[in-house]
Amino acid sequence: MGYHFRTLNYLGSKLRLLDFIEENIRRITNDKQGVCDLFAGSGCVSYKLSEHYAVTSCDIQHYSKVISNALLNKFDITDNDINELIQIIQSDKTLYDCFIPLIETEEQAIRFKDLETLTAILETGSIEVFRLENKNTCLNHSLYEVLDNLSGNDFLNRKSLISRYYGGIYFSYRQAVGIDIILESIQNHIAEDKRDFFLAALLSTASDVVDTVGKHFAQPIKARDAKGNIKITVYNKALQDKTIDIIELYKDWIYRYKSLPKSDYVCQTIQGDYIKCLRNLPDSVKTIYADPPYTRDHYSRFYHVLETITLRDSPELTTTNIRGEKHISNGIYRKDRHQSPFCIMSKAHDAFKEMFEITSSGNKNLVLSYSPYDETKKTHPRVVTLRQLLDLARVYYQHVDLISAGKFKHNKLNSTEHFLDASSEAEVLIVCTNE
Ligand SMILES: C[S@@+](CC[C@H](N)C(=O)[O-])C[C@H]1O[C@@H](n2cnc3c(N)ncnc32)[C@H](O)[C@@H]1O
Repeated sequence: MGYHFRTLNYLGSKLRLLDFIEENIRRITNDKQGVCDLFAGSGCVSYKLSEHYAVTSCDIQHYSKVISNALLNKFDITDNDINELIQIIQSDKTLYDCFIPLIETEEQAIRFKDLETLTAILETGSIEVFRLENKNTCLNHSLYEVLDNLSGNDFLNRKSLISRYYGGIYFSYRQAVGIDIILESIQNHIAEDKRDFFLAALLSTASDVVDTVGKHFAQPIKARDAKGNIKITVYNKALQDKTIDIIELYKDWIYRYKSLPKSDYVCQTIQGDYIKCLRNLPDSVKTIYADPPYTRDHYSRFYHVLETITLRDSPELTTTNIRGEKHISNGIYRKDRHQSPFCIMSKAHDAFKEMFEITSSGNKNLVLSYSPYDETKKTHPRVVTLRQLLDLARVYYQHVDLISAGKFKHNKLNSTEHFLDASSEAEVLIVCTNE
């Protein structure tokens, strides 16, 4: 096994295909050459390949760079450093105090199985949305109280970013406050060159506790059925996710990252568009592994909260029109989310074409992952077909091999998530070489 590590609950993660991918890259790349993981996502492929290669890891999302940095670089972090940080986090109480009215309301609602209040929290409990929209809710009193506390303590800034935006919605209020305190403690007490290590552990923690179906951030739990009745999921999920002790879990993740063996090669990470990355690759890179998105689901929507945790930048939020009125979208999405050409029908073909053009003209091998669409399942169709990709590959490469991983179950989400249900179709690699 070796060098297998799950960082995030990530759609389309190649965690279960790592040996297969590595084996095929090793057939066409020697140890002295470098490899690039062009759409690194959760970083598991970059990490796996770093055992034998100098890896360049790239992704458009900032959180991916943080995670890849934590996986690919060596950090000199002692148990003492960790204990000190955890002590600082545990002794910081002011933000908790500001949030007590909401923390208590939520914790009591879980204790007494109060579905009405839990639903109100999911539907109207974001302080930031309340601040912007001033909508009437049964939580009004507590929301105002917390807002007052925050402004009185000079906390209406990035110190309360995660709890203000997402507290009650994606995390319990207590957990969201915990995330803010961890972020502030990393910022104030950890040297810059070690921050990504601690931040990566926080991203993994957030991915584990998020209170959604599927452990992503595409939308909060839908509290009601089509008739408007409250679903029991509201309580069951709250009990399962919102009661997790975030500081304990964070500590756990820190030790998991700390225990990882690290590459002997010099690796690097790039945050940016795939074109920018391809144009900036070191000459030593011989093989590019590419695992772009293949459906119209933008990763930036599924993981926007991880991006905000990473950037800590108080983003503007998108709005939705409901019966002629503008409202902040339920998902509390960032306005500046990246729209990937690979997810857009009219752009995907050219995006692939450009990738083939640049890799082949640079005399590099390209290993492209593809998970076929099973029409019998209710998954979203692929934006490009395997046939289209193979035709394109053959324009730019002399040798194009299609290699199947055998029967492989895709990263399975809850079956009610109609768009990304499991596919039992085999994943394939399209291996393109010119020699
Ligand atoms: C299928 S996922 C990769 C999963 C990854 N192999 C893993 O195992 O975790 C696709 C990734 O492509 C990234 N992406 C989408 N469009 C991009 C672009 N134009 N440039 C760079 N990265 C992009 C997304 O952020 C996402 O992380």
